[in-house]
Amino acid sequence: MELRGLGKTGFEVSALGFGAAPVGFLETDRREVAEILGGLLDRGINLIDTAASYRGSEEAIGATVGHRRDDYVLVSKCGQSFDDIEGAAWTPAVIAPTVERSLRRLGTDHIDVVLLHSCDLETLKRGEALGALVKARDAGKTRFVGYSGDNEAAVHAAGLDEVAVIETSVSICDQANIDAVLPEAKRNDIGVLAKRPIANAAWKAASEQRGIYVNYAKTYAERLAGMAIAPADLGFPGEVGAAWSEIALRFTLSQPGVTTAIVGTTKVSNVEHNFEALSKGPLADNIVADLRQAFRRAEAAAGEPWPGLT
Ligand SMILES: NC(=O)c1ccc[n+]([C@@H]2O[C@H](COP(=O)([O-])OP(=O)(O)OC[C@H]3O[C@@H](n4cnc5c(N)ncnc54)[C@H](OP(=O)(O)O)[C@@H]3O)[C@@H](O)[C@H]2O)c1
Repeated sequence: MELRGLGKTGFEVSALGFGAAPVGFLETDRREVAEILGGLLDRGINLIDTAASYRGSEEAIGATVGHRRDDYVLVSKCGQSFDDIEGAAWTPAVIAPTVERSLRRLGTDHIDVVLLHSCDLETLKRGEALGALVKARDAGKTRFVGYSGDNEAAVHAAGLDEVAVIETSVSICDQANIDAVLPEAKRNDIGVLAKRPIANAAWKAASEQRGIYVNYAKTYAERLAGMAIAPADLGFPGEVGAAWSEIALRFTLSQPGVTTAIVGTTKVSNVEHNFEALSKGPLADNIVADLRQAFRRAEAAAGEPWPGLT
């Protein structure tokens, strides 16, 4: 397995990571989560991304691979308010107990990276939320802290001394952060986790998306339609869905500055497809260029900027 340095953290992580939002939100059966996560770890995937707000996700990770804690770099996120934690979002009153709860749910005494879960730029600039995470770090609850988000806020976060990792949307349908966030992250030796890295499988028909992903994937599906490009145009004949999933993952992993693509899946069969795509390495430069051009052209035709989507 190819390992990449996660910026200034010193962690060596796999280029393919696991995004645990779908297994939480879609309430994937525990046995399936165990099979997916156990299989990934057995094959050398060593980064798992979750969040306090991904319903049931932290508990599923703790229950299924908590006993293999040394096998993975664990990333979680917090900052929003919750019904069972008193206090306002992005305040120490909420952040400190949320981190404690994540530790319990994940069955561990430390998280490796805790990120602020997409607060706006103003909140980030106020410093109180990041300060609460730094306090958790200094108390040994997490090794490093960072920010998950997009556009100006992620650029700002990438310039902050305390931030070691940025999680930001990068995909065939979400290219703004490639130009805005990745260069700043690279300059400051920040590890970058590419979220939504295969654009929520935007090539699927809406009827094939499930639960919250029906709406979540909609803008990407519209963007992809606007890009008016097909796998065959890029030299990928054959079944369109399989071709897109390979192109999408390889596109994201081809972007300089991306450390790890945290693909979410609830299916062992898709884990297999993603491994296969990973093994083929980065896309050829001309294919990346075609996808970048298709995005820019469609954005211009839409008449308004296509920012990074949270
Ligand atoms: N604000 C934030 O901080 C934020 C926001 C979004 C995401 N994230 C993180 O980033 C991770 C990834 O984002 P995501 O899960 O939203 O999007 P994604 O990884 O781009 O796409 C996930 C979707 O793709 C499908 N999929 C996976 N492999 C496939 C394949 N080979 N062929 C066809 N479909 C495939 C999955 O469906 P199946 O289950 O059917 O495989 C799932 O619905 C999340 O899990 C989360 O950890 C963070």
